[in-house]
Amino acid sequence: MKQLALAGGSKLRTSEFYRWPHVDERELQNVEEVVRSQRWFAGMRGADPGTKTEELEHRFADFHDSHYGIACCNGTVALEIALRAAGIGVGDEVIVPGLTFIATLSAVLQVNAIPIVVDTVYDTQCINPSEIERAITDRTRAIIPVHFGGLVCDMDRIMDIGRRHGLVVIEDAAHAPGAVQQGNKVGSIGHLATFSFQESKTMTAGEGGMITTNDPELAEKAVMFRSCGRKEGESWYVHYVMAVNYRLAEIQSAMLLAQLERLGDQLRIKNENAAFLAAQFERMDGIRPVPGDGKTDIHWYYLYLLQYDREKFSGLSRNRFVEALEAEGIPCHIGYPWPLTKSPMFQSIGQGAEGCPFTCPYYGKQIDIAGTDLPVIDKICADTVVIPHQVLLSPKEDLLDIGRAVVKIQKNASEIL
Ligand SMILES: Cc1ncc(COP(=O)(O)O)c(C=O)c1O
Repeated sequence: MKQLALAGGSKLRTSEFYRWPHVDERELQNVEEVVRSQRWFAGMRGADPGTKTEELEHRFADFHDSHYGIACCNGTVALEIALRAAGIGVGDEVIVPGLTFIATLSAVLQVNAIPIVVDTVYDTQCINPSEIERAITDRTRAIIPVHFGGLVCDMDRIMDIGRRHGLVVIEDAAHAPGAVQQGNKVGSIGHLATFSFQESKTMTAGEGGMITTNDPELAEKAVMFRSCGRKEGESWYVHYVMAVNYRLAEIQSAMLLAQLERLGDQLRIKNENAAFLAAQFERMDGIRPVPGDGKTDIHWYYLYLLQYDREKFSGLSRNRFVEALEAEGIPCHIGYPWPLTKSPMFQSIGQGAEGCPFTCPYYGKQIDIAGTDLPVIDKICADTVVIPHQVLLSPKEDLLDIGRAVVKIQKNASEIL
């Protein structure tokens, strides 16, 4: 009789892990309050005094040791606003990692700048500072490190590179609200940082975004780029820069205020449970958590990342392993299937009239995003297994099932080869 669920055997786990998104009375009360108040709009600059959005901005910025929080409608436009506030535009080069969600690159393209895509470090999955150094030219204006999966990039080195070359550093912290590196909170290390509150994220209102900064000038500009180019104290029809409406709604801010209250406890639970899981994996051969570089004090664990070695699983491919683990009732996926440079959108550059920035007369150089070689990311995309963050909020007894399922697959891998 077959053992593995994928081969027709019985499923190891039939009950759900922690359900996401999480909701309790706090969200319901906050939302009801907004609905009844009939103040559903955060104001013409996007966070007028007395609104939920203003309160969220203060609390979120405070939680990240930042002076300013600027809420907006999603994490993609948060990046775009940060770039525009920093004055990045036509013909500027921005260094980004090739292992990230498309937004990190598309926001750069959105401001008509050129993404220069570089490789990451295998054991952190974060951007490699040596590759950043190598990619710098006289056109480089900014770096966007992505705190991948919730682990903080090597910010000491990145800020040092930024200082030496006069570059703006924008932390893409969509995966890492609340993470801490050597005592420094994500969101307060770079010149600007951006966050996403899309539904899969660890704090969510379905959609939403935030920018943090400690620089009053950048904050003022971000406010203008968030809401139609308006300035503090000026009227509805006075616009100082070309900008559109990227505001967040009051109902979303009300939800996010409730979610923010839980972040501290969730951080503690996830870090404890990650250590508990790591102890299970230590007893196994062929699978282990991404080790990191030892510099992150508090990991946010948006993604619990595992390195998989098929040789230790009788040659079972990573994709087949993930299918088998899911079939046993363990939520998991393969993560990003390839470096962003392999996205279909970059394969036809130069073959049509895509316009600026791909055929930008102000840039004057050939752009070949698809031709960028990223061997470390190729390997990461081939052997990573991802367990989503909400699983780490489950009781420890439930987490034991993860180890049990992996052992079951390893023992019976021949059934599904
Ligand atoms: C690293 C990263 N940056 C930016 C974003 C964009 O956020 P949003 O989906 O809110 O636009 C995401 C979303 O998944 C992300 O993972």
